[in-house]
Amino acid sequence: MTTTDAYVLGRTDAEYERLRVQARIWQDATATLFDRAGLSAGARCLDVGCGPGETMRLMAERTGPGGTVTGMDVDATLGTAAVRMLHDAGHRQCRFVAGDAIRDEPPPGGYDLVFARLLLMHVTDPVTVLRRMWEWTAPGGHLVVQDYDLRTVGVYPDLPLVDEWRRVFLGTFTTAGREIRMGHRLPALFAEAGIGEPDGIEVAGRMEPLARAGGMLTATYRSVAPAAISLGVATEAQRDAWLTDMERAVVEQGGHTAMWPLMIGAYRAKARR
Ligand SMILES: C[S@@+](CC[C@H](N)C(=O)[O-])C[C@H]1O[C@@H](n2cnc3c(N)ncnc32)[C@H](O)[C@@H]1O
Repeated sequence: MTTTDAYVLGRTDAEYERLRVQARIWQDATATLFDRAGLSAGARCLDVGCGPGETMRLMAERTGPGGTVTGMDVDATLGTAAVRMLHDAGHRQCRFVAGDAIRDEPPPGGYDLVFARLLLMHVTDPVTVLRRMWEWTAPGGHLVVQDYDLRTVGVYPDLPLVDEWRRVFLGTFTTAGREIRMGHRLPALFAEAGIGEPDGIEVAGRMEPLARAGGMLTATYRSVAPAAISLGVATEAQRDAWLTDMERAVVEQGGHTAMWPLMIGAYRAKARR
């Protein structure tokens, strides 16, 4: 296995926009978890791997001006843009710190909610990241995480083109030492990190015609392609052919039913001292 700490997806404007679209798609699933954990006004929230800041917005709406929302991400360009967008929308209680969840610390003080969505599937040592997030959770606070199980991605009826997406996308993650079943693994990961059993688990799914899902399949393929090529999972010629074929499939087989990855969430409250 060729493990690498380098981020497997892209850091382009197109990828940032894809993250915003994806964040809006899973917003209700995340809101459900915040309801279960009882995120309330005045809470101090930390979003680890905050990306474009869409979940920080959700937190800010719930905590109100009396709370704080801290985003942490290795990508300072994306995080800085997120906080600018949040401040422009009136959420002045939001701030961003550039940092790597594996080795850096967020601002001290303890957090009532420590959250990460689609972060653990991007790190080579998710146990350490989860253990650190639990340490950052204040007594009486909640740890909440969501991650994908990517194995459900497919279309009905089958299309070789989508099989090829699976080969390249899942193959790149696996070759880079990432867990493609991270959502499914969450309870085991909680145990490995010494946190104990989750208080609750929520599983969210999504199906839609290929005509609508094709944009996300194409965007994720484009985003992973540079890593796929450098790891030897795909060639430039295969990439170009796939993108051309996909453009046609969205029109000619747009009625096929596409299944998204499952979004699996787990949460646990930390005992009060
Ligand atoms: C797929 S995006 C998810 C963004 C956001 N959580 C969401 O769900 O909309 C993964 C994010 O994790 C960040 N990231 C990856 N590895 C990280 C690490 N070791 N520490 C902090 N952030 C990391 C990436 O820069 C990226 O913004």
